[in-house]
Amino acid sequence: ASLKMYVDELPQMPRLHGYSISKGSVTPTKLTIGMYEKDWKFHRDLPPTKVFVYGTSKAAATFPGPAIEAIQGVPLSVTWLNFLPRRHFLPWDPTIPTAIPKRGGVPTVVHLHSGVNPPHSDGSALAWFTAGFKETGPAWSRATYTYPNVQHSGNLWYHDHALGMIPANLLAGLLGTYTIRDPVLDAKLNLPSGIEFDRQLVIADRSFTKDGSLYLNATGVDPSVHPQWHPEFFGDVITVNGKAWPYMKVQRRKYRLRILNAGNARYLGLSLSNGLPFTVVASDSSYLPQPVVTSRLLLAPSEIADVIVDFSKSKTREIELQNDAQFPFPGGDEPGELDGKVMKFVVVPGNPRPADCSTIPRKLVSYSPASLKDVTKTRYITLYEEISNVSGQPVQLYINGLTLLDPVTETPKPGTTELWNVINLTEDNHPLHIHLASFRAIKVQGLLELEAFKSCMVRKKDALKCNVRAHAAGDLVRVPEYEKTWKNAVKIEPGNMTSVIVKFTLVEGDKPFPFDATAEPGYVYHCHILDHEGNGMIRPLKLVS
Ligand code: C2O
Ligand code: CU
Repeated sequence: ASLKMYVDELPQMPRLHGYSISKGSVTPTKLTIGMYEKDWKFHRDLPPTKVFVYGTSKAAATFPGPAIEAIQGVPLSVTWLNFLPRRHFLPWDPTIPTAIPKRGGVPTVVHLHSGVNPPHSDGSALAWFTAGFKETGPAWSRATYTYPNVQHSGNLWYHDHALGMIPANLLAGLLGTYTIRDPVLDAKLNLPSGIEFDRQLVIADRSFTKDGSLYLNATGVDPSVHPQWHPEFFGDVITVNGKAWPYMKVQRRKYRLRILNAGNARYLGLSLSNGLPFTVVASDSSYLPQPVVTSRLLLAPSEIADVIVDFSKSKTREIELQNDAQFPFPGGDEPGELDGKVMKFVVVPGNPRPADCSTIPRKLVSYSPASLKDVTKTRYITLYEEISNVSGQPVQLYINGLTLLDPVTETPKPGTTELWNVINLTEDNHPLHIHLASFRAIKVQGLLELEAFKSCMVRKKDALKCNVRAHAAGDLVRVPEYEKTWKNAVKIEPGNMTSVIVKFTLVEGDKPFPFDATAEPGYVYHCHILDHEGNGMIRPLKLVS
């Protein structure tokens, strides 16, 4: 029998303020956050589950980790400490590039996703460390990271980024939200605010064995090549803020919901069961120029939608948040009774207390536009995979025929804008994530004669030599209105070429980065399906002045 839905109340993760306020002025502060093994209750009827989670102490650690609150322009230092045991409780595949400490221990390193971070604080996959810094990776340089918070306000998250360990470490629970707020802008916009009405929803699919353990398949799709690697993890239980199918009591008023898809591979096609719409105000990291009303939101892994839902307009007392996205997306299975449901809202009758004084303004924030005029460099980024003749499933993925440890080929200059034409020759959609940069899709166009193009790419590894311009001449696909802002993950449609404007600047006024972005150990860009990132769909990114 499966777990009963909607028996646990949606928790809020503990908030950690990355600043302090005294006598009306805001001052920077330091945080120390550890990684701990502990037991976590995912559901009333499930025995406690072993997890690896972040917290200021073992007792305080949560799945997901604490919600870090930062203020725009106020830097935050975080000392990240690893208190994890010698062994991981989940399997990982040593035949893909992986941090394997000689003396045991779980390699970890923290990446602030969407953060405009100096290279030394970006959480390079090779800057990993084990408990007590007993062993460190080749790019490790420091225990304390600094986040300048110089970018505009928005929704970020932090998660593990250790080489080869990302699927297992995130599945175990090493992830949490990070919000940069701009108090002046927030006051002006007057969206629903405060701890009760401005909420984080961290959605993550997981699977459990009968004894309550987290389950990760340990048999590869082609064990002769990779004994444990499989192209995607999909869980049949949907958790939100660390509870399986929770419920949340809401008043008859507007709420701001910051929805993060923290799943390893699952896309979420979200809608409300009574047809109530979402008013999208921001995407991952940036406000939209104006609110966009939609009844369905598609979120790839790592994407965030920042939405307003007005429960005063609800005609029903109970509303389910549903998921209709195929897995893998878009060609896979339809979600069923279990993974088709996410959580439930229960509307409390009567007038809201206090009264709802929030508004949804007609205009939000207009950042610098995406203009082809600014582009100083055009690149072609081709995603493809090798299919195993044993299983008919992918066994190795590539970007331009290369992977992480091949020499760097993307070397943008700080302060510039580039056009990345991202060509997807696989059958799956891939969320492209570029560290440091802000980017957005401006055009999605079908590719003609895919097979010929792919076989040319396998031989020549160069889209221009394979006559990409003749191939990228198919039908245009619309970019959804709610994605028309600066983002940190862009969905790359299969069989299409997605043209992405990539800014290596602060988008607000196009200011330069206030740190040396060209320093070691540099950055990366990758697919945010974690098993793809682990097995080749990742490349180094080195800024060069
Ligand atoms: Cu959210 Cu390099 O990752
Ligand atoms: Cu991918």
